[in-house]
Amino acid sequence: MGLFSARKLIYLDNAATTPVDPEVVKAMLPYFSERFGNASSQHLVGQEAKRALEESREIIAKSINAKRDEIIFTSGGTEANNFTLKGLFFANQDKDKKHIITTKIEHDCILNSCKWLESQGAKITYLNVDNEGFINLKELEDAITPQTLVVSIIHGNNEIGTIQDLAAIGKICKEKKVYFHTDACQSYTKAEIDVKKQNLDFVTLNSHKIHGPKGVGALYIKKENQDKITPLLHGGGHEFGLRSTTENIPGVVGFAKAVKIASNSNIKYMNKLRNKLIEGILNIPSTNLNGAKDDTRLCNNINVRFNNIEGEAIGGYLDSYGISTSTGSACSSHSLEKSHVLTAIGLGAIEINSSIRISISKFTKEEDIDYVLEVLPKVVEKLRKMSPIKL
Ligand SMILES: Cc1ncc(COP(=O)(O)O)c(C=O)c1O
Repeated sequence: MGLFSARKLIYLDNAATTPVDPEVVKAMLPYFSERFGNASSQHLVGQEAKRALEESREIIAKSINAKRDEIIFTSGGTEANNFTLKGLFFANQDKDKKHIITTKIEHDCILNSCKWLESQGAKITYLNVDNEGFINLKELEDAITPQTLVVSIIHGNNEIGTIQDLAAIGKICKEKKVYFHTDACQSYTKAEIDVKKQNLDFVTLNSHKIHGPKGVGALYIKKENQDKITPLLHGGGHEFGLRSTTENIPGVVGFAKAVKIASNSNIKYMNKLRNKLIEGILNIPSTNLNGAKDDTRLCNNINVRFNNIEGEAIGGYLDSYGISTSTGSACSSHSLEKSHVLTAIGLGAIEINSSIRISISKFTKEEDIDYVLEVLPKVVEKLRKMSPIKL
């Protein structure tokens, strides 16, 4: 029995992670003990594993309009992001290319990689965003100098769901001849990623946000750039010599299955539920939406603030009703620091503290949304009555 099996559980923290789809589990199972081979072995068992690895690579490549040999499997999004920034920086140490451009709303694995690279001599520009979380293209263009090595910009934001215009950014990077990387962990299978149309050089993808297993991700590296990046893991030369270690075949097979079964109808469905939830919440007095609207917002993301009450308190009450959500600091909610993303869109400490993130998935039911919309106004009313600040 699961931890919460005694009561109804409505899991609305899918931006943190998603339940693995039963179809994905089914696809993975044979690769644990029947087809357990090492993909580097020459015998039949090894070759079976190799075939599964390459078929999975092909599925992921196709989904972003890339070629099979441009996908490098990793342990997740964190590793792929670290690999891009550190790998490019080290490969270019002898050149005057120590400038990296990113944004103030990246995931911590980009921001902390940048921070560490600063200690190694890198110069980092952190682009501002507007009050919906969009970068300014002119600011990006002006920030690029002859020393700029790479522009790394998150696609769909993990806290506020804002989707950046990759094609417009890619056009600038191409014109200015700098590498373009995007962290697409949250947007993968939810918004279009086309490495050719959007002129992408590097793309970070992961599996556990899309109903695949944890501990698997991928980095797209354009073929012509593969000898221009230093690997982080040296060893037996796996993954075209770019990431050594015996491949995680069950994980990779599960990842590919999750990609294969993701569909446009899932996006449509999530959009409908997201809109219903946003509309219902904004009917509660003194509430505001954080982040972008409509098609420029991820179909599964809702981030709202409730004046004069603590997001933590709302989250705690919702949890007692069996509804799992997350406070503003999202993926790093173990940290007590105030959300750097909400800060970047111009919110003050009180507004940040009164924000919560609700993230749905294809498994969220309309009745779950109805239940939230039944419970939430009562929770808000109760907390507002307790609040010393009156509206
Ligand atoms: C935007 C973004 N980038 C990177 C990551 C890290 O991915 P992983 O958990 O696979 O290391 C996450 C998830 O936490 C994320 O939301």
